[in-house]
Amino acid sequence: MDRVPVKPFRSRDWFADPARSDMTALYLERFMNYGLTPAELRSGRPIIGIAQSGSDLSPCNRIHLELAKRTRDGIRDAGGIAMEFPVHPIFENCRRPTAALDRNLAYLGLVETLYGYPIDAVVLTTGCDKTTPSGIMAASTVDIPAIVLSGGPMLDGWHDGELVGSGTVIWRSRRKLAAGEIDEEEFLNRATDSAPSAGHCNTMGTASTMNAVAEVLGLSLTGCAAIPAPYRERGQMAYETGRRIVDMAYEDLRPSKILTRDSFLNAIRVVSAIGGSSNAQPHIMAMAQHAGVTLYPEDWSDHGYDLPLLVNMQPAGKYLGERFHRAGGVPAVLHELIAGGKLDTSCLTVTGRSIGENIAGRETRDREMIKPFDAPMMERAGFLVLKGNLFDFGIMKTSVISPAFRERYLSTPGAEDRFEARAIVFEGSDDYHHRINDPALDIDEGCILVIRGAGPIGWPGSAEVVNMQPPDALIQRGVLALPTLGDGRQSGTSDSPSILNVSPESAVGGGLSWIRTGDVVRIDLVAGTCDALVEPDEIARRKGEGLPPVPESNTPWEELYREKTGQLAEGGVLDFAVKYRGISAKTPRH
Ligand code: FES
Ligand code: MG
Repeated sequence: MDRVPVKPFRSRDWFADPARSDMTALYLERFMNYGLTPAELRSGRPIIGIAQSGSDLSPCNRIHLELAKRTRDGIRDAGGIAMEFPVHPIFENCRRPTAALDRNLAYLGLVETLYGYPIDAVVLTTGCDKTTPSGIMAASTVDIPAIVLSGGPMLDGWHDGELVGSGTVIWRSRRKLAAGEIDEEEFLNRATDSAPSAGHCNTMGTASTMNAVAEVLGLSLTGCAAIPAPYRERGQMAYETGRRIVDMAYEDLRPSKILTRDSFLNAIRVVSAIGGSSNAQPHIMAMAQHAGVTLYPEDWSDHGYDLPLLVNMQPAGKYLGERFHRAGGVPAVLHELIAGGKLDTSCLTVTGRSIGENIAGRETRDREMIKPFDAPMMERAGFLVLKGNLFDFGIMKTSVISPAFRERYLSTPGAEDRFEARAIVFEGSDDYHHRINDPALDIDEGCILVIRGAGPIGWPGSAEVVNMQPPDALIQRGVLALPTLGDGRQSGTSDSPSILNVSPESAVGGGLSWIRTGDVVRIDLVAGTCDALVEPDEIARRKGEGLPPVPESNTPWEELYREKTGQLAEGGVLDFAVKYRGISAKTPRH
């Protein structure tokens, strides 16, 4: 190969260190046992890792087992040598006590793999919620050239002629079940019909959101995020991604050159415009921390609130992933943000060009799916950051607040967007499920459902439990949602009007630790405040009684996670890990 890399490939230190030819022999020999030749590994071509996130335990990402063949073709054709390896599985729906434990664990494992082996550049295969941020976090820490290949969503789900989307169908069917409109068998049929093919969630849940975020950050090829997993374009995208990462290796185009405060602010705006998941908040904060980019918790309201909802996709809208892709996907949304003056088009991307250059000519032609900036589905539809005596940070996704909810709670004459509610406090989700239908709680339209013990330290891991549905009796009367508040998260596919990701959490002494059932909570969405109307000396007295108990750690990782992980406001990262950045600058010792 006569092509000369901008910087010598780090794999040369393993395979061609003239000072240690004895070690070179050792490093080389075992790769021979599947047919590689010494000449290939010593040719000076870049070794391209394929971080394989798919497996039988990660069904959302399982398509990558197939796609990797096309990725390898691309890598080979462009002059690289592919080496595929597994990353720790993460399956959002199935992992107990929560998949949130695995984001930081997959991160740690991937850092060690990328740093400790002769890998010059990497394809991050993504899909299910946390597989995207964990990969990007690790690539930032190590800082070798990296490109994101999304696996893509499943095909649209249909049931009885109606679109049924991942997750959203569960929340909506639960309400129908509670109202007595469907039985358990129908519930199961609706759920299984929402999953018709390979791929990740087909709603604008956390998976679609985070893959869109990767594309906006400039880490994947243009249009990559939204292509459904079974479409032919997905295989073609895998091939082009494989080709491109080889060039990136030669160009030394690393995450630290791509990820900036401006690219992260673009990502926050896009999450609002697509009606994206509230889980994007901790994940974006976490990726920024590992990239060494300063983001403030308030950036979510300062840059992410006053934006219109543009994408008509569940849970905030009607349609699912296939139509989003056909409507133009992320590049088409970016065109609308440009029209509204809300995109920094100069940010660099993996193509080596700016994001503005990448999307030229990719406007939507489907106005039912992607609305114009000045005629959106909803104005001011982004994220609101709240604070008060109960917490320093909580966030609300306003695009899913239903008209009925707005009418009931946010239309008080003379008190625009302010309301008071009586707290009903639950100690985690088991307590909620046991007691929600207890008539003694006397839950009515004037209540707010509060859940604690659901944060990173309390759960541990932080659970998607804040989207609590009202008692059956209320649902039967047509009250489909009550305000909710909690130190956990909620599913990105949920349409619940919740205040969540509350930090600091109850388990570390945040305000939710002293709130009691019956307290009145005042929420002012204009002022951005949420307070329990409890006198300071009463608060002090309650604090003196100690914190609500949390369950013991059941695994070594749970214990370590609790010891080292921060709060959701800052992304819930392993705090000590943030200082390790750009570690590929030094190759590990022999
Ligand atoms: Fe994996 Fe939704 S559960 S993508
Ligand atoms: Mg989720």
